[in-house]
Amino acid sequence: MAQIAMNVNGVPVTGRVEGRTLLVDFLRDDLHLTGTHVGCDTSQCGACTVHVNGLSVKACTIFAIEAEGGEVLTIEGMANADGTLSPLQQAFQDHHGLQCGFCTPGMVMSAAMLLKENPKPSQADVRSYLEGNICRCTGYHNIVKAIMAASGQDMDAISAA
Ligand code: FES
Ligand code: FES
Repeated sequence: MAQIAMNVNGVPVTGRVEGRTLLVDFLRDDLHLTGTHVGCDTSQCGACTVHVNGLSVKACTIFAIEAEGGEVLTIEGMANADGTLSPLQQAFQDHHGLQCGFCTPGMVMSAAMLLKENPKPSQADVRSYLEGNICRCTGYHNIVKAIMAASGQDMDAISAA
């Protein structure tokens, strides 16, 4: 077992983990941050996406000890300080970017990283960036629409032009 410490959503946390403990399991089982989902455990679905030191990471692909001393952001840290939804989260709600919601935390975390890197993405940019995030409800169209809206772009207006 190893002692680890990191900041998660701006809060210092510590824990004792085995070397093989995945970051996603540390977040869910030890910190009870169950907004980060496990859809496959094999790096396929993107449901477990979080940010580690400013990079988008599938939390089932790294060990918890690899985040030692790092800054981790999960879906629980995405809301505004007053608890209201962030503009990106609100756009998902407004544009029906979710059905069962299982993929949604990972989609939001990936989308947030996309918008950080590319504040005005094209639809093709969004679809390409999200290729590692799978939605079993096949809600991709409205997910793209929500992300375009969060970037200040009306996808329907663009499509009609
Ligand atoms: Fe990590 Fe599916 S649970 S990619
Ligand atoms: Fe159900 Fe995407 S909304 S998996």
